[in-house]
Parts: sequence; C-alpha cells; structure tokens
Amino acid sequence: MDVIVAGNREELGKAREAAGPGRYALVPTMGALHEGHRSLIRLAREQADQVVVSIFVNPLQFGPHEDFSRYPRTFEADLGVCAEEGVRVVFAPAVADMYLPDRQIAVSAGAMGSVVEGAFRPGHFDGVLTVVLKLFNLVQPDVAVFGQKDAQQLALVRRMVADLNLPIAIVGAPTVREADGLALSSRNRYLSPADRVTALNLSKALRAGAVAGAQAPQREPERIKDAARAVLETAARFDPPLLLDYLALVDPATFTEVTEDHRGEAILAVAAKVGTTRLIDNVVLTLG
Ligand code: PAF
Repeated sequence: MDVIVAGNREELGKAREAAGPGRYALVPTMGALHEGHRSLIRLAREQADQVVVSIFVNPLQFGPHEDFSRYPRTFEADLGVCAEEGVRVVFAPAVADMYLPDRQIAVSAGAMGSVVEGAFRPGHFDGVLTVVLKLFNLVQPDVAVFGQKDAQQLALVRRMVADLNLPIAIVGAPTVREADGLALSSRNRYLSPADRVTALNLSKALRAGAVAGAQAPQREPERIKDAARAVLETAARFDPPLLLDYLALVDPATFTEVTEDHRGEAILAVAAKVGTTRLIDNVVLTLG
C-alpha cells in the first residue's frame, strides 16, 4: 500500500480516515532515516495496526550555534524507507504548520532537562518535549517509539507522559550499531574517514566501562568511569582529537549521577565532538 503524506492537522485527519481504524503507533523522527529508524518502525509495527512516521527538523531543539541549517534533509529517500517498512502515514509538516509566529507556551523539561546532555544544550529538551507533545496531540497515537540512543530524551518523554497524564504508551528501542560498534546516527554522515576512526572511541569507551562494571566485585561507579575515561583520554590525542563534553553514570529514570549504593540499572553516557560533529552514545549497565 502507498504511503500517505500529510502536512497538517486536516491532512492527518484524512490520512487516518484512509488508513482505517485500529491501534496507531507514532515514530517521531527528524528524517535522514537510517537502519536505526528502520528498527524503530519495525518495533512500532509489532505494537500497532498502523504506523505513522513524523519527519520534522524541529528548530526549537537546536541552539543558535548548532547544526539546524545543515541538518541532513533527505525527504524522497526517507519516503522510500517508509514505503519499504510498511509505514502507512508520513506526517511532514512545515515549520509554519507547527509553530504560530506569536507562540507563547512551551513545555519545560524541568531540572531533569538541564543536567548531563541538557547542561551542554540549554533549552534543547524544552524544544524536544514541546514538539513531541504537539506531535502526540496531532497524531493521537496509542503508542510511540523512541530510540535508547537518545536515552535522556527517552527518559524525559516518559516523565512528561507521567507528569501530564498522557494516554500514550512509550516504548524504548535498543541502539543499532555498525559492526565495529559505532552507534547509528543521522549525524554520522558528517564524519570524514579520519573523524570516524576517532569517533569509534565513544563506543569503545562505553564497552570498557561495561567490562569494568561487570568485573567489579563491588559497585564502583568511579572504577567504571575511569575505565571509560582511559579510552577517551587516548582518543583525545588522535588526529582529529576526541573533545569530550561529558562522561556520566546516571540513574536511567532521573539522570542524576549514581552513587556507590546504587542498585540495578545505570546508564553510562558520553558526548564528544569529533571534527565539526557532536556525537552522543550510551550503554545500560546493571550495578550490583
Ligand atoms: O530524536 C529525534 O529525532 C528528535 O529529538 C525528535 C524526538 C523527533 C523530536 O524532534
């Protein structure tokens, strides 16, 4: 069946009528779809009768010196991916369809949105949650699928759904990696071959942290971070260098740093610049 493309609320309504009744899943994206997005769509298809993919490069979540204008826009190829994956509706609004010129109200990501990734990207998570809430209101899905690669985003969306009583189930999908460990990201296409060699050290550092966490006789967050930091420090001497923004070991629900007495899951998260590209990655560990 052909993919129906909708650009605004009215067209979405018609698209939903044409697609028919049933349980709807939303996969929110900014386009430049890759194998990671395909895995989100496949998971969405397991959860629902109809899948809607939104494609919208959201200006609200980019800082003034970030890559909004050069963010890859590959709409025709994205439609091809959606058709191959059995997506029924693509919602691709223009900026003017999403935001009124005199808009006043936005979602605040609160304290949880200003730590870790949020500390380096002020306002980013407010922008993410604002657009995600708008997408939820427009598409009205029963379930929405987000990648674990953006772990803090996923945690904040869950928090928003709980705090604002949204009737939507949130499903997290595992990070998809290249064979050598590099986490898939739309921004990987900015990497030169030399950048890519340096960038591999993000996942290598997370693996080193995971190994240290598995071996530690006690729960020792500092030991885990030291093992990861050693890899990152070596990569800081590569050409181009890996320029670390943060390495954090946090509680998956709150994104606060874990302490020695933490039990259960923790997320080891890293962000770094390689050349002109900023990359993030994370791994889920079980402490204790
Ligand atoms: O993860 C993304 O691609 C974006 O942050 C999202 C969830 C589509 C909101 O713009």
